[in-house]
Amino acid sequence: MNVVLGVTGCIAAYKAAEVCRGLQKAGCEVRVAMTEAATRFVGTATFEGLTSVPVARNVFDWPPSPIPHIDLGEWADAFLVCPCTADVLAKLACGIADDCLTSAALATTAPVLVAPAMNVHMWQNPATQANVATLRSRGAGVVMPVSGRLACGDVGEGKLAPVDDVVAAVLALRDRPLAGTRVLVTAGPTHEAIDPVRYIANASSGKMGYAVAAEAARRGAEVCLVSGPTSLPCPAGVTRVDVVSAADMRDAVMARAPWADVAVCAAAVADYTPAAPADHKLKKAEGRLGSVELVETADILAGLAASGEVGYVVGFAAETRDLLDNARAKLASKGVDLLVANDVSRPDSAFGSDTDHVWLVDDAGAEELDTLTKAEVAAAIWDRVQADLGREGGAA
Ligand code: CTP
Repeated sequence: MNVVLGVTGCIAAYKAAEVCRGLQKAGCEVRVAMTEAATRFVGTATFEGLTSVPVARNVFDWPPSPIPHIDLGEWADAFLVCPCTADVLAKLACGIADDCLTSAALATTAPVLVAPAMNVHMWQNPATQANVATLRSRGAGVVMPVSGRLACGDVGEGKLAPVDDVVAAVLALRDRPLAGTRVLVTAGPTHEAIDPVRYIANASSGKMGYAVAAEAARRGAEVCLVSGPTSLPCPAGVTRVDVVSAADMRDAVMARAPWADVAVCAAAVADYTPAAPADHKLKKAEGRLGSVELVETADILAGLAASGEVGYVVGFAAETRDLLDNARAKLASKGVDLLVANDVSRPDSAFGSDTDHVWLVDDAGAEELDTLTKAEVAAAIWDRVQADLGREGGAA
């Protein structure tokens, strides 16, 4: 595996040499990019001695390539930033590419891993935590810093994770159990137009579907995410198709059904749509807004499952009562392989929340999971799908 090791300016930079060695011992080929600040802590000669390749420091001058950031990004099977300062973490979260390391990180399509190291207060600062959350939401891995005595004398979280843990996190990326699998995911709400300025929608944030798509990509799948209107960023390595209405979503999904091996329909599709949306903004005086005639939308999930085009189909069930009875009924009526049921009246499972408490329901029974983050629920769903497809192996 080709690993680009990005080293940034912090006292833990010397540990990057051990990480480099650990990766090489495990059979990885390593190329190093350093920020200018990093070179104040460790000399480039250290990494050049270890890798026999010049360290990439700027985008205009790197002997192995005339366009170093692009070539490094393309060469990488994994892109590790270790140690990652608060500054570079922020740049990665914002897409700032003002040196070779950050430009290559932006240019790569390989999985990105960061191993932050910094002062405890810098780590705990909401700005840093928001940047970590942003990177995670895009599919980046974070090797969490540990607690201990920091170089500045403070005690707390912020110490670079142990070298072995960083190396193990990179090596885990080699295990991509969904490589070669094409996954179609739906996410978010749909908007059903009443007229050009009004619509019917629901409270779905799209977070669950996006987490499912991000996790599939992290496990090596080729992922197409058909998304209703949300404000979420597209996860790394995922192709997103934006749609607005239930009818648009159905068309986008059915057009891709022959392509997909697995489909996960997490979207909260509107069940009804206005029968005759107006082509102009309705005036109150017209009297048409008091009651809008609705017609049922097509059930995308049931249609997809019935089409037989996709080998394995996962549906969701959002319920507020009789959860398992409703879920079992939906499993049968929709004809899906697996149903993820959640009680959206629970505070830990509400629309928009970052956690979910779900049951995985299939013909064999119902498995209740703990209250988990949406990323963890996504991982549990893929663990189950992989087990059912005989693709076990555990993800990175
Ligand atoms: N779904 C769909 N197309 C629809 C409605 C729902 O594909 N027109 C999918 C959702 O993406 C989800 C599953 O069906 O995977 C269940 O959605 P849910 O809202 O829980 O159930 P409904 O089928 O809408 O039934 P009800 O509202 O009566 O509970």
